[in-house]
Amino acid sequence: MDRIRIRGGSPLKGSIAVGGAKNAALPLMTASLLTDETLTLVNLPDLADIQTLTRLLERHGVGIAVDAPASAATGRVVSLRAREITDVTAPYDLVRKMRASVLVLGPLVARCGQARVSLPGGCAIGARPVDLHIKGLEQMGARIELDGGYINAAAPDGLRGAHIVFPMVSVGATENLLMAASLARGETVLVNAAREPEVGDLARCLVAMGAEIDGIGTDTLRIQGKERLHGAVHRVISDRIETGTYAMAAAITGGSLEILGGDLDQIQAVEKVLGAAGVVFERTERGFSVARANGLHGVDVMTEPFPGFPTDLQAQMMALMCVAQGAAMITETIFENRFMHVPELARMGANITIHGASALVRGTPRLTGAPVMATDLRASVSLVLAGLAAEGETEINRVYHLDRGYERLEEKLAACGAEIERIKGSE
Ligand code: UD1
Repeated sequence: MDRIRIRGGSPLKGSIAVGGAKNAALPLMTASLLTDETLTLVNLPDLADIQTLTRLLERHGVGIAVDAPASAATGRVVSLRAREITDVTAPYDLVRKMRASVLVLGPLVARCGQARVSLPGGCAIGARPVDLHIKGLEQMGARIELDGGYINAAAPDGLRGAHIVFPMVSVGATENLLMAASLARGETVLVNAAREPEVGDLARCLVAMGAEIDGIGTDTLRIQGKERLHGAVHRVISDRIETGTYAMAAAITGGSLEILGGDLDQIQAVEKVLGAAGVVFERTERGFSVARANGLHGVDVMTEPFPGFPTDLQAQMMALMCVAQGAAMITETIFENRFMHVPELARMGANITIHGASALVRGTPRLTGAPVMATDLRASVSLVLAGLAAEGETEINRVYHLDRGYERLEEKLAACGAEIERIKGSE
């Protein structure tokens, strides 16, 4: 297994380009199952999760080709064509690697009238059930049985529109049902839908494929189902989590970066919190610049569905608060058990106490390098941030987690002056 070694203390200077959003790209790729024509995605990131979903879609019969390698102008361009669905089973060995695989469920039932998708099971950051996906499809007329760890869904006469009120905000359930509703008979209304930019991106792509969707960007989506959808060309939005992560990398090292392609409108809650902590943002022609003004101050943060502070930046924010003046209360409201990074940060000298869903971080003047273990995607990158700021050497193990969501991370940071290298492992 690869490791990452960092010698901390160098302020980052320069520019970093952010790629296409992983969490937009994954549902967009599954939208290719909805049509027998070609869906071309521009600015598709090159990440382990994208490869996992590529393997799953290929099993279903989707032909996938890279039309153009990554370039600064377009990112990677990839075409997906599900001329015929040859297999409606999403097997456990692929789904367990990545929960987002469950996003094939809605499109497969809508297009083929049946699907057999493994239940994703728990993961490092909590139980994460898929009951809302299942209930929504049942309301749309699918018969669903759970059998041997699989969701067996059948709708031999097709899905029909329904009025679905989500009891809690779920990004994945909104996306799954949005796709299913696009091919259902009649109107579907999704109430208390997720408003994350990635949901909006999916909705815009579906519209380009011929779907009729009102309320994009709001918490009520109204979809008029169509008999068929067609091919389209769609550009994936930029990754707001990668954007926020590099903004925090500039802040934690006391450096200054230009984030190329970064969209401040997507991270307003983050900009506000970081601004209160002493981080300065300025829009530029190609994105924005970010720098730490003077000292960093502790600020309280609570994760919330969009437009609130994203849970996917909670671990990185915590790393930043470890070196701030004063205390910060960080409260996680989306996932239970998303403080796996706390004991690892503590190994680097951080002073953090957990009280239920909140972590009280008391800032210390400096962290010290240590060997640490990556536990999940965002936790791993918080350790990278801590390592960049720490005195001495930090070695992060199990970095395959990082490769799920950050493209060429060590290359991008090294180009801005970080002393960071990947050590290839033999296992
Ligand atoms: C997506 C993102 C993930 C992000 C999360 C929250 C992708 C591929 N992943 O995950 O990076 O952290 O949104 O912004 O886009 N829940 C239920 N029942 C359900 C579905 C969800 O109880 O059927 C709960 C979950 O356990 C969690 C909360 O709802 O506590 C939010 O989960 P959800 O928004 O569905 O997250 P994902 O779509 O899995």
